[in-house]
Parts: sequence; C-alpha cells; structure tokens
Amino acid sequence: MLRGKHIILGICGGIAAYKSVSLLRLLVKAGAEVQVVITPAGKEFITPVTLSALSQKPVVSEFFTANTGEWHSHVDLGLWADCMVIAPATASSIAKMANGVADNMLITTYLSAKSPVFVAPAMDLDMMAHPSTRRNLDLLRSYGNHIIEPESGELASGLVGKGRMEEPEKIVEVLDRFFATREDLHGRKMLITAGPTHEKIDPVRFIGNYSSGKMGYAIAEAAAARGADVTLVSGPVSVQVSNPAINVVRVESAREMLSACEDTFPQCDIAIMCAAVADYAPESVATSKIKREHDEIPVIKLVKNPDIAATLGQEKKKDQILVGFALETDHELENAFDKLGRKNLDMIVLNSMRDAGAGFGVDTNKVTILTSDNRRLEFSLKPKTEVANDILDTILTLK
Ligand code: C5P
Repeated sequence: MLRGKHIILGICGGIAAYKSVSLLRLLVKAGAEVQVVITPAGKEFITPVTLSALSQKPVVSEFFTANTGEWHSHVDLGLWADCMVIAPATASSIAKMANGVADNMLITTYLSAKSPVFVAPAMDLDMMAHPSTRRNLDLLRSYGNHIIEPESGELASGLVGKGRMEEPEKIVEVLDRFFATREDLHGRKMLITAGPTHEKIDPVRFIGNYSSGKMGYAIAEAAAARGADVTLVSGPVSVQVSNPAINVVRVESAREMLSACEDTFPQCDIAIMCAAVADYAPESVATSKIKREHDEIPVIKLVKNPDIAATLGQEKKKDQILVGFALETDHELENAFDKLGRKNLDMIVLNSMRDAGAGFGVDTNKVTILTSDNRRLEFSLKPKTEVANDILDTILTLK
C-alpha cells in the first residue's frame, strides 16, 4: 500500500533516532518516496548524510540553505505529503506540536500538513507518564493525529518502563493498514449530523443539551479520510473540522437541521444521525428578552420537534443506508432495538451512559452496535477517532 506514497519522516532529537534509519530504509523498500525533516537536536543523534543517502533526497532541517539563501517551503511539503510520520517524537516536540510553537522546520511542516499525521513518542518512562506529556498527547489525538503508542521495555536510561519507540516494522505495518482502509469509502456520498440543537426561547436564551459534537465530527473526519464525499450538518459546537474537503452546513434548531438534511439526503448513499436533537422547542419565540421583573413566572409551552432520523427513514430508498445513535439510561438494548425498527434504521450505535469516559463532551466512547440483520457488536472504551472507524467498518459489512 505504500508504493508511490509521499511520506514526510520527521526525526526529533532522541536516542531512538537510530531506529529512524531502519524505518526510512523500510519505507523506501516498500516503494514510498520519503522526505526527511529533522530537528536541529535530531542531527546530534543521526547525520543527514546517512538519511539523504537512504532517501535519495536532501534532508530538510533549516528554513534556509545558508550559502544560497534558498527557502525551504514547509507549506509545499505539507501539501506534497500523503502522510507525515514523526519518529521519534520527543516530549519537547510533542509539546510544541500541541501548542503550535513553530520554531523549527519540523514543527512548521507539521502545522502546514494537510495529510494524516502519525506520532511515535520515545522518551524515558517518567517523562512519558508525566501529566504534561499525557495532556499534550491527548491534544494531538483531539487534532486527529494518530499516536503510535510506545512499548514497555528497557530504556536508554537503563530503567525499564513505557517509553520505547515502537519498532520500525510495526510503524510500517500501521501505515500500511492505514492506507489499505483509506480509500474504501471512495465516491460514497455521506450525510452526517452532529452536535446539539438550540431551540430559541427569546433573543438571548435557548433550550439545548450537553452534546459537544465530537463524535459526529470524528465520524466526518474518518469518512473523509477514507475517501467519502461528506456533508456534515452541525448544530452549534466549538469543535471544527480539519479536513477542508468536508462540506459543513451550520444550523441552529431541529427544524433547520431537518431542512438541511432533506436537501442532502436524496443524493446520499449513507446517512449517520449523530446529533443530539432537542425533542421539544418553545411553541413561540419571544421577540424581546423575557424580563425578570414580571409578577407572573413565565410558562414556556413546548411543541414536539420533528424526528429527523425517522423522517429520513420514511424517505429512505432501497440502496441507502441510515444509521442512528441511542443514548439510553435504562433497558438500553430493548430501547435501542425498538428505535432501530421504529425509525427504519439499518444500524444503531448505542452509547454507554454507565461507563466513565463515555458519552457527552469526552474524547473517548464505548459503544454497542446493533444491526437490522440482528447482529450485536460490543466495542471497548476507545478514542472517538477509533470508534468512528469501527462504525464505518461495520457500515461496510451491511450490504
Ligand atoms: O429517539 P431518540 O432521540 O433517542 O433517537 C436518537 C436518534 O435519533 C439519533 O440518531 C438522533 O440523531 C436521532 N434524532 C433525530 N431527530 C430527533 C430526535 C432524534 O434525528 N428529533
């Protein structure tokens, strides 16, 4: 899968940089075109001569070539790459990547990269376990970067623990698998809803819920990375998409979300209803702010919102796939099965309310998937980016 792929190999200053030579050799052997970008500290551990000989390209490290003044464009490199792999990634570079500290060529290239980024940390066990490192790695995960977790074993310090960079063969395997699944949604038109809806009470107040949009956005990113043509209909959220190919339609209320979905659904192959749509909306919206200084306490009369998933379920054609979500507090499986049938869905993703680390706002989720052909698949607690790929993998088994 790596034949002809453009790969940026970022090397930071750590003992594990010696393993980057094997990694480079394996990538080149697999047919990839590799451009090495090394930090100034990286050059203390491994020489550019070895790296340029193996990659058959000059190694990039500085912003300019000193004697000619030639500028090395991190923007062009970022556009050229099909993927960037940073191995080893040191605590310092991980912190700079997490916070956008663009003080060397590797970090500017990382910030300009439009392609998927893989990060293989390598450091001493205490640095690896430090809350600062864990937080920075979580930030990178939240940007959609893939962390290739280090192994436990003997470290350069002589201590034994988690921090050894994953072996080059394993890193190549991860990249290979990534590219193998990458194009399996090519040409599929997908509609994804995400986030909460806000139902206006007056010009300054609304009825809403705690949905962060993270799960729906992760599905949109994963689907686009796998080649799908994605329209993401999003309620008001603070998360943003990083893939510019995703067509984001911003809406506020359930009615606006329904109308945006009805526009897109007829042309779609797959629709995933991930939004936490408000069930009720105020019957009327006050034209000016409801004041506190009234004698009577205001009563807000609610009316039922349209059920978007059920509406699309009615309109669904034979070759379309419709997927819903369920967040249940009790009789979880029965309720989810009932919803699957009632809304004419092909698959429903049941979110756990019981497990810590699952549900609204967090970066992880634990789901059970039920399919209309009576399968029940249980998944472990994982980052939402991985859950997104599990959901897409299961959709591809449906028809
Ligand atoms: O009925 P319930 O709200 O539990 O169903 C959840 C599923 O239905 C989710 O997929 C959600 O996006 C969708 N839904 C919808 N429109 C609504 C309510 C829920 O599309 N008004």
